[in-house]
Amino acid sequence: MGYLKVLDHPLIDHKMAIIRNKNTGPKEFRESVFEIGMLLTYELSKNFKSVPVEVETPMEKTTCYVLEKPVVIVPILRAGLGMVEGIHTIIPQAKIGHVGLYRDEKTFEPVWYFCKLPPNITEAVVLVVDPMLATGGSASVTISMLKEKGVTDIRFIGIVGCPEGVKRLATDHPDVAIYLAAMDSHLNEDAYIVPGLGDCGDRLFGTK
Ligand code: PRP
Ligand code: URA
Repeated sequence: MGYLKVLDHPLIDHKMAIIRNKNTGPKEFRESVFEIGMLLTYELSKNFKSVPVEVETPMEKTTCYVLEKPVVIVPILRAGLGMVEGIHTIIPQAKIGHVGLYRDEKTFEPVWYFCKLPPNITEAVVLVVDPMLATGGSASVTISMLKEKGVTDIRFIGIVGCPEGVKRLATDHPDVAIYLAAMDSHLNEDAYIVPGLGDCGDRLFGTK
């Protein structure tokens, strides 16, 4: 099994209570998803590698540290978009690639409809972003596609996971560290996470 970190933090718990609540409207839902994205990114970025650089301050030269690699954020549409702004607030120099997938309603298998990635992606640390890790299919096929393109350094950031999704992702991609805000009980017969927060894309964008 690869690395799995489920953040244990009172601020995350507080925001999870907001987004799990069925009475929370799209504005507060989006704001909390944004904020959870920021907090997860702060934790995840503790493992980024830095390299020394000489910097001349107004007083003298000194050694500073900068990120070794560029960062690329890859949200899985649609729901991944809700976390991008929070991640970008912490890493504003990151480029963003977009991957469009939806789950087939009967098979729950992901279906491709869009892919646009920045050219430097093979040199970058790539953050694959999707708030919901349900069957793990969407995250797994996205990561397989990135590896086929030559990407070697990939992390997954989600909000709610479940044992089924974590098992699939960790089995298919044991080299990819998984960062989540909560680990839930199970999937229901419609492959929704329980207790979860419902359909994240619909709640972010008001489509139901
Ligand atoms: C949801 C969610 C994830 C995916 C997770 O997307 O946003 O992308 O399901 O499920 P999985 O782990 O079983 O693959 P959905 O297909 O509902 O599309 P949407 O984000 O456009 O609403
Ligand atoms: N997608 C969602 O938006 N929610 C779930 O619980 C599972 C997949």
